[in-house]
Amino acid sequence: MTRNNDPNLRLRAQHHDLQRMVDRLRVIAAAPEGILLPHRLHYLLESEVGALSGSLRAHLAIEERDGYMDILNQEAPELSNEIALRRKEHDVLRQHMTELAQMGYGDGNIDVYRLAILEMLDLITDHEAEESLLLDRYTDSRDTV
Ligand SMILES: [Fe+2]
Ligand SMILES: [Fe+2]
Repeated sequence: MTRNNDPNLRLRAQHHDLQRMVDRLRVIAAAPEGILLPHRLHYLLESEVGALSGSLRAHLAIEERDGYMDILNQEAPELSNEIALRRKEHDVLRQHMTELAQMGYGDGNIDVYRLAILEMLDLITDHEAEESLLLDRYTDSRDTV
């Protein structure tokens, strides 16, 4: 495999962009009470959750389709257990995004919504951090071949 085909390099920009969206939403969701009128805050949170959901779902699909999972499974079978764990986390992330979307469109408590968003953001950050470590291990192992 040439370095240009290294999935780690190809996914790095996507991970960076996704993390920027996560950081922005975290700041909004954790903003002190009173910074925005409640209905403005709710609207902003819903629209940012919608944008993140679209980007995240597209990102997960790319990773599963031709991003890295098949490549690593073929070229680094010693990482297959970890790859399977990351794949399962994708389903958990999709389920949480669906639940968040349903919650946002209701007239529920804004603080419950904010907490659910922050929990979701932690899940995304944890997943991406584990994934980056996995991809780094793969890249490092290829560099030493
Ligand atoms: Fe992933
Ligand atoms: Fe990822």
